[in-house]
Amino acid sequence: MNSRTLGPTGYSVSEIGFGGWGLGADMWRGADDALAREALRAAVDQGVTFFDTALAYGSGHSERLIGEVLRDHIRAGRVRIATKVPPLNEEWPGRANRPLAAVFPVRHIAASTETSLQNLGVEALSLQQLHVWHDAWLDDPDWETCYDRMGRLKREGKVLHWGISINDHAPETALRVLADPLFETAQVIYNIYDRSPEAALFGLARTKPLGIIVRVPFDEGALTGQIRSTTVFPPGDWREEYFKGDRRAEAERRGKALAGLLDAEVETLPELALRFCLSSPAVSTVIPGMRRPAHVRQNAAASAKGPLSPRLLSQLKGHAWDKNWYPD
Ligand SMILES: NC(=O)c1ccc[n+]([C@@H]2O[C@H](COP(=O)([O-])OP(=O)(O)OC[C@H]3O[C@@H](n4cnc5c(N)ncnc54)[C@H](OP(=O)(O)O)[C@@H]3O)[C@@H](O)[C@H]2O)c1
Repeated sequence: MNSRTLGPTGYSVSEIGFGGWGLGADMWRGADDALAREALRAAVDQGVTFFDTALAYGSGHSERLIGEVLRDHIRAGRVRIATKVPPLNEEWPGRANRPLAAVFPVRHIAASTETSLQNLGVEALSLQQLHVWHDAWLDDPDWETCYDRMGRLKREGKVLHWGISINDHAPETALRVLADPLFETAQVIYNIYDRSPEAALFGLARTKPLGIIVRVPFDEGALTGQIRSTTVFPPGDWREEYFKGDRRAEAERRGKALAGLLDAEVETLPELALRFCLSSPAVSTVIPGMRRPAHVRQNAAASAKGPLSPRLLSQLKGHAWDKNWYPD
């Protein structure tokens, strides 16, 4: 497993990190806690040192599982955990016309941080992120108090570093806040279909500098080739909505077109998707969602194979796909 530096935090993090949304087991169905624990242990065995979670994932369930399995590694500084302050109004994505007091009132930021510390069973959060953001909030009269409280949590040693988890498919909505030195990382959707961060965010990352955490590298599974027109999700799984109507058939068609590019250089679609992300030097770590040890081992192996060839990267440009399937 290769490592990269997570921007100004100075953390050395594995190129393949661990996406912990599925561990929450509320929106993602079809796996269980025993399997999740095995997946977490397998990740440590494979050299994964960066784990992403959020208080919102199963109302703290993902954090508690990660804390239970990884606590000794966290305390010894062998792994870094990133978590998130949920928006109080429970609205994803963050909307420009909402007052900051409805989304991130100061008391909520402090209380969420305390709850995450308890769930993980640690004294300090390696990285705390705002789970939604819109740059319009910088002009909100409550921003200064909010910003001061985040600075105080850092001075108190409860939050070691702050980051922003950027609204889905909208990297341009966080460029102003990310110019501020308090924010050292940006978590953003970047994959073969959505290359929008390349325009301005990666440029900012080069000059500031900024740690870039790539989420949703598989487009929620479409880029693994596992979503077909006939795919049936477990009852209650949120992807029933994401891949509704003819979207499954479209995902299958596009996945097959990408599979046509596989050869000796890249053997599987998940490998192609992960190595695409890692081919950008602006990227610090990629966090595929993983709930099964077999996926952990497959994904971890992508790091050692290095960036894609210029030929393949150029072919992938034609596969970009402008869409937003998240509920609004
Ligand atoms: N707003 C935010 O801040 C936000 C939003 C979304 C995600 N995230 C973070 O980003 C992480 C990644 O995103 P995501 O989990 O939504 O989507 P993703 O990583 O694009 O895709 C996850 C899907 O890929 C499957 N998968 C993983 N490895 C595979 C492999 N080797 N072969 C075949 N299938 C494989 C998983 O399988 P299984 O179904 O079997 O597990 C799951 O269905 C999340 O876990 C979370 O930490 C943050």
